Amino acid sequence: MKKKLRSTDWFGKDDKMGFVHRSWLRNQGYPDDYFRGRPVIGICNTWSELTPCNAHLRDFAEVVKKGVLEAGGFPLEFPVSSLGETIMRPSTMLFRNLASMDTEEAIRANPLDGIVLLTGCDKTTPSTLMGACSVDLPTIVVPGGPMLNGRFKGECLGSGSFNWMVKEKMLVENYTPEDILEAEIGVARSAGHCMTMGTASSMACMVEALGLTLPGAAAIPAVDSRKKLMAQLSGRRIVEMVKEDLKLSRILVREAFENAIMVNAAVGGSTNFIIHLLAIAGRIGVNLKLDEFDHIGSKIPLLLNLKPSGKYLMEDFFYAGGLPVIIKELHQYLYNEVITVNGKMIGENNTKAACYNTDVIASIDKPLQENAGIAVLRGNLCEEGSIIKPSAASKELMKHRGPAVVFETMEDYHARIDEPDLHIDENSVIVLKNVGPVGYPGMPEVGNVDLPEKLLRKGVKDMIRISDGRMSGTAAGTVILHVSPESAVGGTLALVKNGDIIELDVEKRKLHLDISEEELQKRKAEWTPPEPVASRGYVKIYIDHVQQAHLGADFDNLRGGSGADVTRDLH
Ligand code: FES
Repeated sequence: MKKKLRSTDWFGKDDKMGFVHRSWLRNQGYPDDYFRGRPVIGICNTWSELTPCNAHLRDFAEVVKKGVLEAGGFPLEFPVSSLGETIMRPSTMLFRNLASMDTEEAIRANPLDGIVLLTGCDKTTPSTLMGACSVDLPTIVVPGGPMLNGRFKGECLGSGSFNWMVKEKMLVENYTPEDILEAEIGVARSAGHCMTMGTASSMACMVEALGLTLPGAAAIPAVDSRKKLMAQLSGRRIVEMVKEDLKLSRILVREAFENAIMVNAAVGGSTNFIIHLLAIAGRIGVNLKLDEFDHIGSKIPLLLNLKPSGKYLMEDFFYAGGLPVIIKELHQYLYNEVITVNGKMIGENNTKAACYNTDVIASIDKPLQENAGIAVLRGNLCEEGSIIKPSAASKELMKHRGPAVVFETMEDYHARIDEPDLHIDENSVIVLKNVGPVGYPGMPEVGNVDLPEKLLRKGVKDMIRISDGRMSGTAAGTVILHVSPESAVGGTLALVKNGDIIELDVEKRKLHLDISEEELQKRKAEWTPPEPVASRGYVKIYIDHVQQAHLGADFDNLRGGSGADVTRDLH
């Protein structure tokens, strides 16, 4: 029997409320048949001029609408909170859960049968998907696409990746302010999100690997006409998905999450992938654990030669064949029989993928690196875990013992890192506290702090840095992140003192603070928590409810879902 459309509860009634629901919408000129049995498709738009990476999504919504209308649906676009990575302070991560709540409630409260998520910049994908999962309607994602390759001094320039080198370029390579200005303009030369394998690109690959986009969507540049084609076809497809009742929970099964972990390893994806995938799994009811990212992902070889792990950029990835090639190459590892939004299995979708440049996408027989993925470290310094991305780290630092140089806060780091008499050398381990979910608050992307000026001048390129914060997916280095529990809630990180010896052994997955148990317990007993950073408003709600990084930093009361039913009517 055909399932009744959810929107019928609003538009299908011939009573007073049916009149009200239809009448006011008619002010936009919709004909009567739009309200009589057409699937209503919500186009959830993260467009904003304050989110430069998503500034083109208004146009995309119009294209999606075309597809919805062609397939017999009724498209209604609505805005949700948009999180612009490069502009919002103190950190977009502080607002990811807020944006997810906005999306969840907007979907549930309105007469929608199916959802198209228009996403782009880093947090706009996980936030909207988390919200959509908690409602669980048929949903398709249209990733907005990367910018064209940056160009500067005749070479390709990766967005994000260059800004981490500005200090070094000015100090060591004598770049002038004019050079930097030229780079500033040349790096962002079209609509779209960062074109390195940063978090936005990793999120686009994640949703494609989860089966939530039409095949091949992730890598298409934002300004390529094929992106619009993908948007239009997605508009058509969501109408069919509603008829098939192909909702998120049918696609987001455990195997789909494992596929996404493997694909993220093969593309050298962002460390932020972990925190977002954990949160998404928590919403849809899949029990995913931090250690599984290591167990599942670390056996996977690195196949994609993209910055920051490699050489190329997303435009090159698209021309080389895009994510379908990676999925095909991983055939022997993946769960190929997992349904995707087009109604076909993920393996079936990608069997015909062809690689056009093996320097960009390596084959499974000749990978760029064996055993990629993200390593999860354990030890007394991170009892609930911490992570490192080996493909972006320096081999010679993967096993290291060195004295800690401790910074209590980001402000403390900025005030002292370039002091000429700071006791620090290339063997030191930089420890940054109070940048976790509760401590900052909002767990900013600061874990890859710049090295001290005096060491950069000496030619030092990398040092071990440890923090409870995150790192931009566009950054690289031997950087240990997401230390859990964080320092602000009394994790061992809070107890580290200058000169303590820290031992890292990535192969053994070990991160150890080399002090006696007796001394550790003494410091624990003496520790007092920092003053709470907020006493009211959303930030207070955030620090009261945010979970630690190893749980995805979602709110404790947002895990799971409430479904699509609205128990009380509008009267
Ligand atoms: Fe938006 Fe990088 S700043 S994707």
